[in-house]
Amino acid sequence: MDNKEDCIVVENLHKNYGGKANAINGVTFRVRYGEIFGFIGPNGAGKTTLIHILTTLIRPSSGVVTIFGKDIIKSRQDIRKRIGIVLQKPSFEPNLTVEKSLDLYGALCHVNKTTRRERINEILKQFDLQDIRHTKNEELSIGQRRRVQIAREFIHNKKLLFLDEPTVGLDPNARRILLDYIKKKVKEGLTVFFTTHIMEEAEYLCDRIAIIKKGTIFALDTVSEIKSRYGGTESIEVTFKDDVLPDMLDQFKLEIGSSQRILVSKPNVIKIYPVDSKDVLNGIIDTIYKNGIQIENIAISSSSLEEIFINITRKDRTDIV
Ligand SMILES: Nc1ncnc2c1ncn2[C@@H]1O[C@H](COP(=O)(O)OP(=O)(O)OP(=O)(O)O)[C@@H](O)[C@H]1O
Ligand SMILES: [Mg+2]
Repeated sequence: MDNKEDCIVVENLHKNYGGKANAINGVTFRVRYGEIFGFIGPNGAGKTTLIHILTTLIRPSSGVVTIFGKDIIKSRQDIRKRIGIVLQKPSFEPNLTVEKSLDLYGALCHVNKTTRRERINEILKQFDLQDIRHTKNEELSIGQRRRVQIAREFIHNKKLLFLDEPTVGLDPNARRILLDYIKKKVKEGLTVFFTTHIMEEAEYLCDRIAIIKKGTIFALDTVSEIKSRYGGTESIEVTFKDDVLPDMLDQFKLEIGSSQRILVSKPNVIKIYPVDSKDVLNGIIDTIYKNGIQIENIAISSSSLEEIFINITRKDRTDIV
């Protein structure tokens, strides 16, 4: 079931913690080498459970997972040595300084002293930690601590990195630095498994994403493919040369159908939230043409990934799309 392209292969995975519902409920996917694969899903969807299974911290109830072509249960020790993990839970050595804790972590990962020194300097610079290199971890802010927790996973140069909501608590600058650093490392050969709630982040970073809810994958593809499959036209905004008059509005309503929501958002602008965007657009063009109305602009905006996520994962939705 493995081939040279797949770094992670997950087949029909289940995890039950003992309750009625499965935390992971029959999940199947593959992550290719050199890919940034994002898992996005609401609280309690099963993201951390999945990361804990893939990083061999907990055992699945059933299903098969192979990483680097090896079964995660049979080759647990070997896989553990070859992966980096940033867990959702904070983890730090309170009494050590930032620099000393990075050095200790590198030593535990069997990185030699010279390489450690080089990498620590690079990481301190990359993650903007130079000013706090001699500060004890317990004296750091939450965001600074998170940055150190992430930074240390770049000391050992492992080929696969798991990150569970790494950017929570990071300011926009620190977040962008991290995302760009991940991108750089992926170009150099790293594979990344990443979870987030932040849609722009998934869009900025990931080659493919899976949307998970209640332990089940609802959508899995590239962001642009998911957008074109599950998204649609959110609104059509028409800007007229002159103000919108009541009879003009009636003409539009008549032509495009009463089920479409139309708002006059500015004196010379109408905004339509279409049920069927193609019909609506044709209706708008016909009305403009028939009535000789002069327009300045028609702007069409599509659903963002966030809207698609909310739509797919909303509570009342039970169908698998
Ligand atoms: N140790 C545990 N024992 C029992 N149930 C658990 C345990 N850990 C998680 N769960 C349950 O499994 C489900 C998935 O939880 P999980 O932590 O994987 O979600 P998540 O997607 O990471 O959520 P969040 O976005 O809040 O981090 C939840 O219903 C949770 O209550
Ligand atoms: Mg979680």
